[in-house]
Amino acid sequence: MIIANWKANGTLTSNLAWCNELNKLLSNSDFSDIGIAPSHIHFTQIQKMFEDSSLEVGLQDIDFNGGAKTGSISASMASDAGCKFSLLGHSERRQLFNEDDDLIKTKLQAAISNGIKPILCIGESKECLKSGKTRDFLKKQLINVLSGIELIDHAVIAYEPIWAIGTGNTPAPKDINSIHEFIKDVVQSSSANNIEPKVLYGGSVSHENAESFFGEKSIDGALVGGASLKANPFADIVKIYRKVKRK
Ligand code: PGA
Repeated sequence: MIIANWKANGTLTSNLAWCNELNKLLSNSDFSDIGIAPSHIHFTQIQKMFEDSSLEVGLQDIDFNGGAKTGSISASMASDAGCKFSLLGHSERRQLFNEDDDLIKTKLQAAISNGIKPILCIGESKECLKSGKTRDFLKKQLINVLSGIELIDHAVIAYEPIWAIGTGNTPAPKDINSIHEFIKDVVQSSSANNIEPKVLYGGSVSHENAESFFGEKSIDGALVGGASLKANPFADIVKIYRKVKRK
């Protein structure tokens, strides 16, 4: 699956142009394997644009409950509005909004119980990478959030090294593949029902480097930030994904 993470970008006008362009670029109207996570305020606009198609529209974050929580969108409100998936624990949420693993776990439980597919984001910092502790760190993030949880079988993990997000730097495809194998093992042994998840890679994915990633067996797709803001490079990434993975 290829997911566009638009972050806090987009206007009603630019979104409309983006959707029309994607429609033209994918002229066979095959929208399977594509997800879009627009800002909350643009969710319904994008959902209407792709009504009756297999394209999934999700959110970049949800809250675990509702009520007296000014500014929040609860998992049950998201579900009621037709949200298909939610990113959870993106490194920007962890860093800018002080989200920790305990909070992310409550969000993941709320997503699952409201029928929303969780896309759990994990990833190490540059310092962690340099100190050689990446695997220990990722394992801790996964176990803190997933232990004791009955995962749904289409649960997804997004491996996004913090140092690769928006920088143009990426790990080598072989190294990502080996981390993804590790993530699948850890999730299988730490979730209550031993589910092996799909694992997406995120961090400076572009139409230029996408092929090198999708050629690796355990890279099941991508979470795309910057390169998803224009329809053209995003459609190229989708086409490359299909060419490589649907062989
Ligand atoms: P990027 O962002 O593709 O711009 O590096 C990815 C993300 O933050 O999900």
